[in-house]
Amino acid sequence: MSLYPNGIPAHGGILIDRIATPEQKAEFLSKAEQLPQVTLDARALSDLAMIAIGGFSPLTGFMEENDYLSVVKSMRLANGLPWSIPVTLSVTPGEADALKAGSLVRLNSESGTFAGVLELTQKYRYDKQEEAVNVYRTDEEKHPGVKVVYEQGDINLAGPVWLIERQAHPLFPDYQIDPSASRSLFRERGWQTVVGFQTRNPIHRAHEYIQKCALETVDGLFLHPLVGATKSDDIPAEVRMRCYEIMMEKYFPKDRVILAINPAAMRYAGPREAIFHALVRKNYGCTHFIVGRDHAGVGDYYGTYDAQHIFDEFETEELGIVPMKFEHAFYCTRTQSMATTKTSPSAKEERIHLSGTKVREMLRRGEMPPPEFSRPEVAAELSRAMQVGG
Ligand code: ADX
Repeated sequence: MSLYPNGIPAHGGILIDRIATPEQKAEFLSKAEQLPQVTLDARALSDLAMIAIGGFSPLTGFMEENDYLSVVKSMRLANGLPWSIPVTLSVTPGEADALKAGSLVRLNSESGTFAGVLELTQKYRYDKQEEAVNVYRTDEEKHPGVKVVYEQGDINLAGPVWLIERQAHPLFPDYQIDPSASRSLFRERGWQTVVGFQTRNPIHRAHEYIQKCALETVDGLFLHPLVGATKSDDIPAEVRMRCYEIMMEKYFPKDRVILAINPAAMRYAGPREAIFHALVRKNYGCTHFIVGRDHAGVGDYYGTYDAQHIFDEFETEELGIVPMKFEHAFYCTRTQSMATTKTSPSAKEERIHLSGTKVREMLRRGEMPPPEFSRPEVAAELSRAMQVGG
């Protein structure tokens, strides 16, 4: 008997749908010219979409102050439900002054498209340093997540939102599988247990190793690369997705693996983001979630396994999704296979592992990463992209 005969429940119990119905859309469009307007940056725009499609269930909008403070301080919404990352919409005091609580606000994309509507319930000031120290564990501006917080407006706008319409993704329409669709797919395939994989980097052999180790013990693998905003030196999503397509073609069994995009923006919040990433994948219908070394980390801000330890701060049932934790994986020349220190007695010099920075440097010099690190087809694709893109 399966633990979840109808699929794992969304976080909070109900998969949220905040995409305007045809009637709501018509009503919003008829009011479009009269509504006060706010422009969303790429991250806020992707947050709006994630809320609307249920990826951020149980959130129905941008956080009100009680939820925000509770999340920052104790990794829980005000009702006690685990939630580790603030989802907020910030504007300057000048912009906020022009808006009245209780009114509808038109949300535009940076190109001016009418993307959504906010029912403004609250405007509040917040403490950026407090958010940085609690969520990112540092107040240094050079941390890419902290930098975003410091640069955004001083006032948060809060309230429920609607997305005007769910459009096809401009780059990856075939891989836009929203939570209700991924849940149906898992059901159709008869998968009772599905492991989700978050990534923002090109696939390498350690990724493949932990994905496949995880898949050995569950029914399906949901490869879910993040394609929302990332920092400028991360490899572009188009290149990463091409690498995954190459892998799907040749190295993954199609009946056991689904490739889909995660439209959210990266926060680089390490441990806190690992919890967030897991809850988002639960909303997509995953029962398990891979957490490897320095998950969602950047620079030296987090310990190698901090993102695994943070799961101990919650009860298994309140998260619902089960973390699958993996040690730092490498190619081991002694056993001639991928391994970790758990599975191989190798000495340090028998382990082949390259950092992302090192690989980027190699590719820039026109060198190919070794086959022990990267599948040659993937290395060739990365090298080609580097030559074209610089
Ligand atoms: S992340 O920011 O999305 O976490 P990345 O795409 O590199 O970055 O990692 C995706 C997942 O693979 C994360 O769970 C990460 O911990 C894990 N991971 C990456 N490299 C390794 C490795 N060499 N060994 C074990 N886990 C790894």
